[in-house]
Amino acid sequence: MKKIGILILLVFIAIQFIRPKKIQSIGVDKDDIVFTTGVPKETWQNIQRACYDCHSNKPNYPWYFNIQPIGWWINNHMEEGRHHLNFSEFNSYKLGRKRHKLEEVAESVTEHWMPLSSYLWIHKNARLSDKELKAIADWANMERSMLPPPDKEELEWLEKKKKKNKD
Ligand code: HEC
Repeated sequence: MKKIGILILLVFIAIQFIRPKKIQSIGVDKDDIVFTTGVPKETWQNIQRACYDCHSNKPNYPWYFNIQPIGWWINNHMEEGRHHLNFSEFNSYKLGRKRHKLEEVAESVTEHWMPLSSYLWIHKNARLSDKELKAIADWANMERSMLPPPDKEELEWLEKKKKKNKD
């Protein structure tokens, strides 16, 4: 029994050296949503507060990020979140992707599947009021309505999607 305990301890110590890589961009990213047509300052601040840890190049890493396997688990969420949607790189997205993501942003906060509940449980300061969430949805819808009509690339993509749904 004692040997197993020592073994578990050794494994725990060993995995502390396998740290997930941290990222942190400097200054305001050139493709950040703040440079979209009209995100109100307060809404942008709320998005930073509630979404940027997982959807930007400027996450805040909590101290327990340095304890494995907790850090691995958190990093997984962060990387997956960024992969799906990165507010720091938003303006580099293609037109069709922007349109689709803005639609999802409005939906995610209206239906309360974002921010993730496991995250809100610990990050009380990321809890937004219904009014603040609605302001995010309103901005996303407004932003989407101001996008230019679909370009060639988006039309081709829509056409492909339509065909796929038929099959
Ligand atoms: C703790 C990390 C975390 C936080 C905080 C977070 N998200 Fe997410 N988000 C994720 C992950 C992980 C995914 C991908 C998997 C999924 O859809 O559940 C995701 C997916 C999304 C998607 C779907 C993108 C797509 O096209 O598939 C949207 C939209 C989104 N998040 C919006 C938001 C908004 C808006 C906020 C803030 C109000 C927010 N998220 C806060 C982790 C997070």
